[in-house]
Parts: sequence; structure tokens; C-alpha cells
Amino acid sequence: MPGADLPGAFWTGWIAVLTVGSLIGLGWLVHSVYFAADAPQQDAEGEAEPVWDGNLREGAQPPPLWWFWLLFGSLVVSVLYLMLYPGLGSYAGALQWSQGGRLQESMAEFEAEFGGVRRLVAEASLATLQADLELMASAQRIYDRNCAACHGYDARGQAQRFPNLTDAEWQWGGSPAAIEQSIRQGRQAAMVGWLPVLGEAGVRQLAHYTQQLGRGAAAAHPAKAQYDQFCAACHGAEGDGNPILGAPSLKDDVALYGNSLDAIEASIASGRNGLMPPFGERLDDTQIRLLVALLTQETTG
Ligand code: HEC
Ligand code: HEC
Repeated sequence: MPGADLPGAFWTGWIAVLTVGSLIGLGWLVHSVYFAADAPQQDAEGEAEPVWDGNLREGAQPPPLWWFWLLFGSLVVSVLYLMLYPGLGSYAGALQWSQGGRLQESMAEFEAEFGGVRRLVAEASLATLQADLELMASAQRIYDRNCAACHGYDARGQAQRFPNLTDAEWQWGGSPAAIEQSIRQGRQAAMVGWLPVLGEAGVRQLAHYTQQLGRGAAAAHPAKAQYDQFCAACHGAEGDGNPILGAPSLKDDVALYGNSLDAIEASIASGRNGLMPPFGERLDDTQIRLLVALLTQETTG
């Protein structure tokens, strides 16, 4: 629909006046340089030589004539352009072209071509999508383009910064709805550093206790009281984690930032703030649903 993205009533007059005004101004300037009575003429040797600032002389040379043709040419092009295309306020131009119009046209083409597939993706069950090799191949392409840089082409995570998306361990929940939310809205993990509270010795002891959690940590462990006081609220009394807060399970061997005592100590001492960027604006519903199908392949398929 041409005209939908043109400026509103208040701006349209100003834009038109300023545009036309500056074109006329430019035309006048060109005219005055080349054709005004006191302009230096090609043949007026030495006669009308202006002196600037007391001793700055321009010389009798008029500006070269090809400049004139260049400026004249661009003026003509500007005027033609303003007649054909939008530029003067809300005047849509003789060709009725508009960026929004172009966008809607290509959206309409896209819809005609892929509308059927898009409806299928929206309505079919995840298992149906996962059984469709062609759709899963497109899902993989969407993944490669948007996610692989961080999570790796095999989605097994990398650099002890970006989590593995192929295992059964989900920090923020592994249901299709939770995964969709991770993709759409992104995730910001927030665990503060505990060094100021616990001191170095306390951090070391807690790291040790954390490492023991999955292996039936002794109730008599000296750091248990501190764990219950400072950590259990997010990670759970038994270390099961809490997907609502993105607090990972500390019981299993899967650790985003590493399993070694040093890595665990570093997590506890300085905290961790992993950030998954939101993709809700960059990807459309179809693409997001295909990604959810791709990432839940093991659990539902
Ligand atoms: C800029 C790097 C980056 C990109 C690009 C990125 N992610 Fe992430 N993603 C992360 C980080 C970092 C986390 C972990 C956040 C945290 O620490 O809680 C994460 C977490 C996730 C989670 C939650 C994992 C869990 O265990 O609950 C999912 C699901 C996910 N990403 C999917 C995707 C998908 C799908 C894409 C592509 C559309 C993508 N990510 C693109 C960095 C990225
Ligand atoms: C406010 C909630 C909160 C509290 C309290 C908290 N954590 Fe965390 N913890 C998190 C979150 C969220 C993450 C995930 C950080 C990320 O993904 O970037 C995390 C990550 C970790 C990790 C890294 C796990 C991995 O996969 O590499 C360890 C270890 C850890 N916490 C231990 C502790 C200990 C020990 C305490 C108590 C001193 C504690 N946390 C207190 C929320 C919390």
C-alpha cells in the first residue's frame, strides 16, 4: 500500500518547503557564481578580481565550466527524482513507489510461496516436524546461521561459556515451552560473586562441598551450613537447581563453566552472568518453532 510510510500531516509541509527551498537556493548559488553581473567572466582578465581578507586573491579564473554542468545535471536529476519518487512530504511520487509498499509486496510474494509450509509448521506436532527431513534441514540451516557461532555447529556448546544444547541437562528447563522462551526472550543468568562474603578459605570449602553434592556429600561437611544458608535458595537444598532462576543442578557432571575444583571455585568466588541474547525480533514464529523441534529431537522424537 503506497503512502502508508510517508510522513504525517505536520511534517509534510515542512519537508516539502525545505526541500524545494534548498533546491532553489542551490540553483540561485550556481547562477550567481556563473552568470551574475559581477561574476568573474571567462574573458574578463584581471578586471573583476575580488580580494578577500585584505590580500587573498582568487585570481581572474572563473570556476571551470564543467563544474557548472555537473551541478546543473544533479539539479535536474533531483527535480526528476522528486517528481517520480516520494521525497516531497506526503507526495507519493508519480511512480507510487514506497519502501513499505515494496516490503509488503515481497511479504505477499513470500506468503504466496511459503504460506502453506508456514501454516503446517504452526499447526503440526513437534514429532511430525521432526519426522520431516526437509523441514529439519531448514531448521539446521537456521541454527547454523544464528546459533552455531556460540553453541557450536554440533550444538555441543563450546569454550565453557556456551551450553551444550544436545544433552538432557537444561539450565532453564527442557520443555518445548521453556526452550522456546530461551530462544524468544533470551536468558540472563545472575549469580553474584561470594568471595567478599565467604573469604578465600570459605570459597574453597564450598567448592569442595559442591563437588561432593552429586556423590552423597557428607551431612557433616564443614561447608554444609554455609551452602544451606547462601546457596540452597537458588540451587536447592540437594543441589538440584531451579530452572525458573536458571540456577543449574550442581549434582550432575554437567557443568557449563567446568567441573574442576578451580573452575567451581572461580564460579563461586566471582559469580557468573551468562547471557543468551533474545531472538524473538530476529526470527519469526516459523523459524523459532523449527528450532524448538530441532532442539527437542531427542526428548520427543
Ligand atoms: C552470543 C552467543 C549466543 C548465541 C548467538 C546464541 N546463544 Fe543460546 N545461549 C548463550 C549463552 C551464553 C547461554 C547460557 C546462558 C546462561 O548462562 O544461563 C545460552 C543459553 C541457551 C539456551 C538455554 C540452555 C539451557 O540449558 O537451558 C537455549 C535453549 C539456547 N541458548 C538456544 C539458542 C538458540 C536456538 C540460538 C540460535 C537462535 C542461540 N541459543 C544463540 C549464548 C548464545
Ligand atoms: C541468586 C541465585 C543464586 C545463588 C544464591 C547462588 N547461585 Fe550459583 N548460580 C546461579 C545461576 C543463575 C548460575 C548460572 C550462571 C550462568 O549460567 O552464567 C549459577 C552457577 C553456579 C555454578 C556454575 C555451574 C556450572 O554449570 O558451571 C556454581 C558452581 C555455583 N553456581 C555454585 C553456587 C554456590 C556454591 C552458591 C552459594 C555460595 C551459589 N552458587 C549461590 C544462581 C545462584
